[in-house]
Amino acid sequence: MLTTERLNPMQDGIAKALDVLRAGGLCAFPTETVYGLGADARNTDAVARIFAAKGRPQFNPLIVHVANLEIAERYGVFNGAAKQIAQAFWPGPLTLVVPLREDSGLSPLVTSGLDSVGIRIPGSDLSHELLAAFNGPVAGPSANPSGKVSPTSADHVLAGLSGEIEAVLDGGPCEIGLESTIIGCVDAPTLLRPGGLPREAVEACLGAPLAEPAANGEITAPGQLSSHYAPNAPVRLNADKKREGEIYVGFGPCDGADLSLSASGDLHEAATNLFEILHQANAMEAEKIAFAPIPEHGLGQAINDRLRRAAAPRVKY
Ligand code: TXA
Ligand code: MG
Repeated sequence: MLTTERLNPMQDGIAKALDVLRAGGLCAFPTETVYGLGADARNTDAVARIFAAKGRPQFNPLIVHVANLEIAERYGVFNGAAKQIAQAFWPGPLTLVVPLREDSGLSPLVTSGLDSVGIRIPGSDLSHELLAAFNGPVAGPSANPSGKVSPTSADHVLAGLSGEIEAVLDGGPCEIGLESTIIGCVDAPTLLRPGGLPREAVEACLGAPLAEPAANGEITAPGQLSSHYAPNAPVRLNADKKREGEIYVGFGPCDGADLSLSASGDLHEAATNLFEILHQANAMEAEKIAFAPIPEHGLGQAINDRLRRAAAPRVKY
């Protein structure tokens, strides 16, 4: 068992985080979406430790985080649409899945042996500083045990992974609080996972609707693991009122809510609060959790995606 160190977001904390990454260790780091569990994506031993620490199935590939597009192009091949979306939304809550370069030098564990790679340039200043100083690829799934609620604070990371990883760089709470939107740019631009960048924004940039992933049952698209983001208690969706024994989570004005995603009905606020509320429900040892309906537009799509998976029958991989 390791002692997981909490690193401050100043120069000395960043320097220690870099030491951990360069030595092949695991360091969780904040992005504007959620905390990532970072390791050098070229180092197979380090990447193998990510899967072990999370209990993640090895058929589920990792996102590679980099500081800028020039570095991204060392690992992936960007076609016209990929470049257009990258230039419009990076740095930001967006991951692009593009063909893997043959000479990428990435550990094959990162891509689970696929010939595509998920790449992201995150937007927060702290993640940028870390990645720019590292000047290489950082593999980073969300820093939570596989299948559980994603972390939006260093405390969440420690609650799930303390003793399994060397360090967490504490940058405070994540601004967006939901994972990145994943767009596949291998063929026609495809929405693989709704997330912190609304699909409407990407479609407006491309001037065309995004394709839907082929439902062929293969894990080439994320989130085909139907149970994910699961709190300890069972979850009921589209609940218009509280039932006996439930913690009721409201959205907009509602009577008798125990917690609220956003009292004013603001989808950005709800996205930021979602994982924090699921962590709170775990801490409160809730028996059951019920969520008020959330509109299915803008960030509501990603919120409903996470909620549906949180409510899905639990599957152990
Ligand atoms: O906001 C985020 O995206 C966060 C932060 C830390 O960057 N990361 C994150 O990673 O959510 P993770 O591992 O929890 O989710 C990444 C998803 C997985 O569902 C995986 O299947 C998918 O990305 N993915 C990665 N590479 C892929 C590829 N080559 N093809 C299809 N899906 C891919
Ligand atoms: Mg995740």
